[in-house]
Amino acid sequence: MKTWGQPTSRRSFMVKGLALGAGAAGVGLLETRLPALAEGGLTPGDAAILRFLAAAEILETDLWQQYNELGGVQDSEVPGGSGSAAYTAALEVLDSDMPQYIHDNTEDEMTHFSFINAYLADHGMDTVNLDSFRTLPSSQATGAQRKGRLTNLMQLTLDTSWWTRYRSRTKNPDFGDTFPQAVPGLASGMFPGIPRSDADLTPSDHVQAIANTAGFHFAFIEQGGTSLYPSLAQRVTHPEVLRILLSIGPTETQHFQTWQDKAGNAPPLTDPTNGLVFPDLNSSPFGGEDFQTNLIMPEPTIFLDRKFPVCSIIRPTETNGAAMGAVKALTANGLFRGQSATFFRVLHDLAVAADAARHGT
Ligand SMILES: [Fe+2]
Repeated sequence: MKTWGQPTSRRSFMVKGLALGAGAAGVGLLETRLPALAEGGLTPGDAAILRFLAAAEILETDLWQQYNELGGVQDSEVPGGSGSAAYTAALEVLDSDMPQYIHDNTEDEMTHFSFINAYLADHGMDTVNLDSFRTLPSSQATGAQRKGRLTNLMQLTLDTSWWTRYRSRTKNPDFGDTFPQAVPGLASGMFPGIPRSDADLTPSDHVQAIANTAGFHFAFIEQGGTSLYPSLAQRVTHPEVLRILLSIGPTETQHFQTWQDKAGNAPPLTDPTNGLVFPDLNSSPFGGEDFQTNLIMPEPTIFLDRKFPVCSIIRPTETNGAAMGAVKALTANGLFRGQSATFFRVLHDLAVAADAARHGT
């Protein structure tokens, strides 16, 4: 048993990665897993899927922790940081309970990766530790801890097409359909989701734009988890692993549902420092069912085959390539700007292994 991602194990990790890349399970891979198979009943595919999810949850925890330090509730459950009053006030424009929700989402992600890693270890399987990649800078704003981070919340390029994807009645990403952006400005350029320093706390429309960006980022992250779990669940083998995915996945959906509602409360404005526009989604040229802000439950749409009646569903849930799809989406989001080539290699290899898993293997 070893821990993926730790410096001490990088050599053996690279050996495994090469073996996987060649399309064959290397001898080293089998040596570490055969005894575990006999003892724990998990297949190598189950372990690979759980490891990818552990990595995703570690990354989620890192970003949520940064949000909590500045805009959440800092307490014994989610320690670290001391809050930024101006940023927190701007978040509270979206909902007065935002600090509590940020806290709770952060704690949920902490428990997800801790549980999955503990479960893997208990079954004699390799676990995931990304501590050696905590190299990105912290916000310099008052309230943030000064320590190395895994994720970058200060140069986000946000895809907000999830907004229209869940409102469409005729399209489904699993059919190859694409969807318009709710906030087109966020999809090009780089924007902070947290104040980079106290200089970002004024003027008021600037810090509000940062809080609005965070509001849309929260939902972007959690809609990803909402799709990732059901997508990967289709390829696990052990019933208990299926139970884990079916029990954690819907909590991501609970998060997404909450954040989608809050993002709809982001006040329309133009950031005077960079021109970023948050449009009024209820007015022309937006508006209508594709943009209406209180349409927070999924509209029914096509599913599996157009011959069936439309159905209210999570989307996408295509299983093939789901792990790599998540990595690509998070990377395009700017979340890993500044990370090392080794970090991307580790994440890539974890995703390749998860996507190679098949039910029964
Ligand atoms: Fe999670």
